[in-house]
Amino acid sequence: MANELIYEGKAKELFTTEKEGVLRAKYKDDATALNGGRKEVFAGKGKRNNTITSLIFRYLKAHGIPSHFIEQISETEQLIRKVEIIPLEVVVRNVLAGSLAKRLGRPEGEKMDTPIVEFYFKNDALDDPFINDDHVVFLGACDRKEIETLKALALNVNEKLQELFSEIGITLVDFKLEFGRDETGAIILADEISPDTCRLWDKETKEKLDKDVFRRNIGNLITVYDEVLNRLMEVVK
Ligand code: TMP
Repeated sequence: MANELIYEGKAKELFTTEKEGVLRAKYKDDATALNGGRKEVFAGKGKRNNTITSLIFRYLKAHGIPSHFIEQISETEQLIRKVEIIPLEVVVRNVLAGSLAKRLGRPEGEKMDTPIVEFYFKNDALDDPFINDDHVVFLGACDRKEIETLKALALNVNEKLQELFSEIGITLVDFKLEFGRDETGAIILADEISPDTCRLWDKETKEKLDKDVFRRNIGNLITVYDEVLNRLMEVVK
């Protein structure tokens, strides 16, 4: 059946379509922090994140990164391929910030010589705990070969995105990716890439242009998301 809601997450709803294997993702205006413990609605956030994600996935596709993205079909909606989501958040870090700065007891802003890739187990009840490769295998989320594929894809995305953001005067501090298996079992990029899921700092002013303005109550979310969108629209056609 088409138009059936099959999943509702914190930031998106997924619906079936007429076409087997194709879903419609609708981006919501909700912003959450503290694993859903804090929630606020920002009118227009959904359409900004949908457009930003669509631009970025189009750019990544043009640079050889396979993903679930098909096309943006309205301000808040996009068509995506149905995949079996791997229950991991794959985080890539270029500059020390957020939970890693806290865990290591060092100030934010330290640049890494090589990027750090981390896995978190997607499980709300457990607050998405940080886990290592052995835990990933123990949980049955991925086998060893797939772990290497995830890391290689994540680092490849990082290279492409660093280039893209650098071109528009933004430092890609860190970001979170999710992956899924397509109908052949191949691992492809899924979910979204937006200021909800990245840390983006203006190169010159160091201003935060991401969800940290909401998490830390330090600015206007819509204003900074617009800034990212406007800069991206200048370079991704
Ligand atoms: P962290 O420093 O809080 O671990 O976050 C690292 C990056 O991952 C940051 O860009 C925000 C993003 N992220 C998500 O997109 N979803 C999440 O649930 C978490 C914890 C982080």
